[in-house]
Amino acid sequence: MTHTEIRDKFLKFFEERGHKIVPSFSLVPENDPSVLFTTAGMQPMIPYLLGEIHPEGKRIANSQKCFRAQDIEEVGDNRHTTFFEMLGNWSFGDYWKKEQLNWIFDFLVNEAKINPQNLYITVFAGNNQIPRDTESVQIWKELFKKVDIEAVDLENAEQEGMRNGRIFYYSDKKNWWSLSGTPEEMAVGQPGGPDSEMFYDFGNTEQHDFEKYGPACHVNCDCGRYLEIGNNVFMEYQKQANGSFKPLPQKNIDFGGGLERITAASQNQSDIFSTDFFETIMEAVKKHVTKPLDGERSLRIISDHLRASVFLISEKLRPSNKDRGYILRRLIRRATMHATLRGGDKYPFMEIFDSIIDTYKDTAYYSEINANREEIEKVLHEEAQRFSSRIREGEEHYLKFGKKISGEEAFLLEQSYGFPIELLKELAKRDGKEIDETRFRKEKEQHQEISRAGAEKKFGGHGLLMDTGELKAGNEEELKKATRLHTATHLLHASLRKVLGPDVHQAGSDITSERLRFDFTFPRKMTPEEIKRVEDMVNEAVQKDYSVTKEELSYEDAIKSGALAFFKLKYPPKVNVYSVGDFSKELCGGPHVSRTREIGKIKITKEEAISAGVRRIRATVE
Ligand code: ALA
Repeated sequence: MTHTEIRDKFLKFFEERGHKIVPSFSLVPENDPSVLFTTAGMQPMIPYLLGEIHPEGKRIANSQKCFRAQDIEEVGDNRHTTFFEMLGNWSFGDYWKKEQLNWIFDFLVNEAKINPQNLYITVFAGNNQIPRDTESVQIWKELFKKVDIEAVDLENAEQEGMRNGRIFYYSDKKNWWSLSGTPEEMAVGQPGGPDSEMFYDFGNTEQHDFEKYGPACHVNCDCGRYLEIGNNVFMEYQKQANGSFKPLPQKNIDFGGGLERITAASQNQSDIFSTDFFETIMEAVKKHVTKPLDGERSLRIISDHLRASVFLISEKLRPSNKDRGYILRRLIRRATMHATLRGGDKYPFMEIFDSIIDTYKDTAYYSEINANREEIEKVLHEEAQRFSSRIREGEEHYLKFGKKISGEEAFLLEQSYGFPIELLKELAKRDGKEIDETRFRKEKEQHQEISRAGAEKKFGGHGLLMDTGELKAGNEEELKKATRLHTATHLLHASLRKVLGPDVHQAGSDITSERLRFDFTFPRKMTPEEIKRVEDMVNEAVQKDYSVTKEELSYEDAIKSGALAFFKLKYPPKVNVYSVGDFSKELCGGPHVSRTREIGKIKITKEEAISAGVRRIRATVE
């Protein structure tokens, strides 16, 4: 069965069970500043898990594009990819464990044709707050019984191994799911809950190296024998400020299963790069990259990174030196390096790009890929070609280095040839050379300090890093505009509290020369009248031409004097307090205008939710 059939079957299966099929959300989340990319199908569903009404109802299913930048280094083995599709189904306060486990078992065994003999289950063992999930254990036992398997449940698999068990209890380190991890790691207000995971056994015992992976092989072991193919999260709790957990107003199901992995299990193929998913891609890669830097590993890295890049570019992301754009750049460059180094193949990618886009050609679900073919290929081509000639020059230089590469040499390579240290490390590993990384980092820091000092001088001594976040300005003109917006942010903060009440607190801020962005705590959408009142109040304050004054106080005195602080930050013992007339008073690093008329007229351009209880306003000045 092909991956396309599995995706179609999954969506149809849940559609037949009352689910509305929705499109994948974008890979680049628009409303969540806390993450760069969508890393799980549930991430865009948080408002509905918390109780907001989903316009399509209480049963939803989709296949979500996901990207996990934190897995970049893992790519190269038989099962990790940065980009993947997560098949998902949700119950927003509708069905519960019995339906979910029955359906998902039915789907895996009867639709995806996965042999139940090779399926293993984990469940939550309970902790001092949340009880053990015995309900799921009972349901799983009955399900396995229907296919003539007696499912024995066991503890301590980590120490004692599988012992012919089928269902295993693990702690909240493994069988608890939230976007931030364990119950302890969760942020206040976040939803989470116990989960029950499903694993496929490929039976390849030979790769369990006892020194590396420990005395017992078990489903959660890293040796690669067992592959997690799906996770049923029973999303029923919310973290409280005192660390305890309160039941959510509704019990939710959040199921997520990696399509690449379910395909691997269905095809009983322990290497996901050998499934039909990567067939044409790997063929093209092998044809054009005949001298890969690191053998099979390189071929997988090239396939994975370029596939992820195709999806990111289809969403209009472009390689750059910042945030998401930087990650995209790193993916393309790393793939390029694995393909073109070692005096081997010339820049070889065009047909590989085609093979990736062709893989999704007939999938209506991701029509954005085929529709943007030319643009995607152009962006990839430009970045990859430019970088490939650059690393060839860098490599020539590198070949002159001895066995021990000094920090200065490594830094020079990065400075003059744009040859990043991550890439140098791969080369050095290949050739058994050593890099003085400590010295490299020192060199780099020193260099950065010098440029920072230069920047400060250029901006007339203003600190660039401010309490309200980073002020992004490239030159004096931009800095002036950003400064006006910065003072406007203080007026906005004060006005919001006057209109909406003192429970409003700053939750974040980001200022460029074009606009301000201010995040604050508030439980609901602002009405158009409230937005108008806030905007008018700020503009009245501008018109009053208040003077902006600064005083230096101890942190305690500043807070006592009623100055607002952004509690996410750590402040030094002595702080600057900026007052705008008697209208606003905040702890802040500046810079600010000296009188409010300099700001000009402000306009609120957008008000939206960015997470539960946090709103975001964007505004510009004329
Ligand atoms: N949200 C769950 C996960 O990503 C399903 O594993």
